[in-house]
Amino acid sequence: MASDASSLLAEHRHGPSPSARRAAARADFVEAVLKGLWRRPRSIPCRFLYDARGSELFEAITRLEEYYPTRVETALLKAYGADIARLAGADRVLVEFGSGSSRKTSLLIEALGNIPAYIPIEIAPECLREAMAWLGVRHEDLTIVPLIADFTKTRALPPIAQGRRRLGFFSGSTIGNLSHDEARAFLVNAAHLLGGDAMFLVGVDLKKPASILVPAYDDAEGVSAAFNLNLLARINRELDGTFDLSAFAHEAIWNETAGRMEMYLKSLADQTALVLGRRFPFAKGERIHTENSHKYSVAEFQALARISGWQPVHAWTDAEQLFSLHLLRAG
Ligand code: AVJ
Repeated sequence: MASDASSLLAEHRHGPSPSARRAAARADFVEAVLKGLWRRPRSIPCRFLYDARGSELFEAITRLEEYYPTRVETALLKAYGADIARLAGADRVLVEFGSGSSRKTSLLIEALGNIPAYIPIEIAPECLREAMAWLGVRHEDLTIVPLIADFTKTRALPPIAQGRRRLGFFSGSTIGNLSHDEARAFLVNAAHLLGGDAMFLVGVDLKKPASILVPAYDDAEGVSAAFNLNLLARINRELDGTFDLSAFAHEAIWNETAGRMEMYLKSLADQTALVLGRRFPFAKGERIHTENSHKYSVAEFQALARISGWQPVHAWTDAEQLFSLHLLRAG
């Protein structure tokens, strides 16, 4: 890298200042929580699960025996990186959506060889800083141009992407958090953002028996439960909440009809919680929906890609059919 990660991030002057960004993030959280607790059924968007503690807990989830997606996607990148590189070409700017810790990206960058630049799009600046430092050590000559932004709302790439072909990367089956309509809108926007001759590598969790899916979202150690309950802890910390964490239970269910895992926080008693001075009564058994994680067969995801501005090039899966990596071509 040309300079160290923190100075690169400091040089990144696009968009609002850090304090303006923090104020906007807080306003966004306040509105989502109040609206989410007022409406029926109650629900809070899953992006709020990822504060510093939530991101830490998610990293712990990715190391669980029961949580196969990270492990299998990593194995697919290791096994098929050379094939992906051959089909995609090394001359492309790599654009990652929701880059997070960028750990898996390192494998892709290695396989691709000398890419002109890596553009991680990530909303959490702390995540970006840490990821860039980590990647910078491993890929000394890599040009990293971070974009602090919500990847669903990104409409333009930095100048370094101009006049260069692009390869998008959207890993971890994060696309599963979106509804089918949202996923379609995301893919359409990505096609516009990445341009006419772009390619896109997307990691997608496969449909499979509930006996495998449910433990992945409700592990024996209780890390998934802690991850979900941290949302209430975060409301207590940031919004003067009075949630009694011992009076709510983590629930993870497979919704066969909708083809998705669903997470809820379920009240174990009749109780009332305060948030920013407002009272929110909960009946015993009442739930707050906190996440959807949609699963797709290979054919289902390819059909979604086709109606969203992309043509399937290849899909790689593991022997147990747990996870898929899709390479798509714009068109
Ligand atoms: C990071 C959204 C892909 O849905 O599998 C893990 C999040 N939630 N355990 C997923 C998650 C509960 C994860 N994604």
